[in-house]
Amino acid sequence: MGIDLLTTTRAFRRRLDLSRPVSRQDLLECLEIAVHAPSGTNRQPWRFVVVQDAELKQRIAEHYRKGFAANLSGRTPRPDQLADLASGRYLAEHLHEVPALVLVCALGRPPAEPTPLRLASFYGSLYPAVWNFMLALRERGLGSTMTTAHLAYEREVGEVLGIPFEEATQVALVPVAHLLPGSDTPARRRTPAAGLTGWDGWGEPMPREQLS
Ligand SMILES: Cc1cc2nc3c(=O)[nH]c(=O)nc-3n(C[C@H](O)[C@H](O)[C@H](O)COP(=O)(O)O)c2cc1C
Repeated sequence: MGIDLLTTTRAFRRRLDLSRPVSRQDLLECLEIAVHAPSGTNRQPWRFVVVQDAELKQRIAEHYRKGFAANLSGRTPRPDQLADLASGRYLAEHLHEVPALVLVCALGRPPAEPTPLRLASFYGSLYPAVWNFMLALRERGLGSTMTTAHLAYEREVGEVLGIPFEEATQVALVPVAHLLPGSDTPARRRTPAAGLTGWDGWGEPMPREQLS
């Protein structure tokens, strides 16, 4: 797929095939790509928990739905966010039906005394691996979405799966499924980088209406 892989790997939710199982081999091959991501001083601090058991998925999905609802409450979405929110709601409602839920965890807990450097090192050593994983999935015709909505219930989800809270931090829950036929997506419109880039300095911010 080349560079198209980067511009067409989307948050796949409605296009996930909920009826077709995902093999352990596919998942493991994509996790093998995930671990090639960069991490601070090459610590490779990631751990993965793959959940395919129906009852476990149901229990996790219940926590996810609570987290998703809490995250939305009191927020007034912008008009351009409504479609994504509806799609997010669809995923929340169907999460337990997605063939595999992959929990990506960091070894250790977030820094007790957070500084920009410590936070960047902690979380920044994990999300590149999540993205590598998602790209590898897409390359094989599998779809996924980076999600974090369950993190308000990290402890509860951890208890379901035996993830030791003091030793590991969940950073993402990635639902994985085969993509339904005809799911080839065009690159989504994004704010062009030219309007977001300063050269030799911060530069003059371009008004928002000129950016989109
Ligand atoms: C840090 C992070 C957290 C996210 N959390 C959620 C989530 O909890 N639930 C969800 O449905 N999507 C979640 N997303 C997906 C975003 O909504 C999605 O990447 C964004 O809308 C762009 O979608 P697109 O690539 O299809 O254009 C998250 C994305 C990121 C990067």
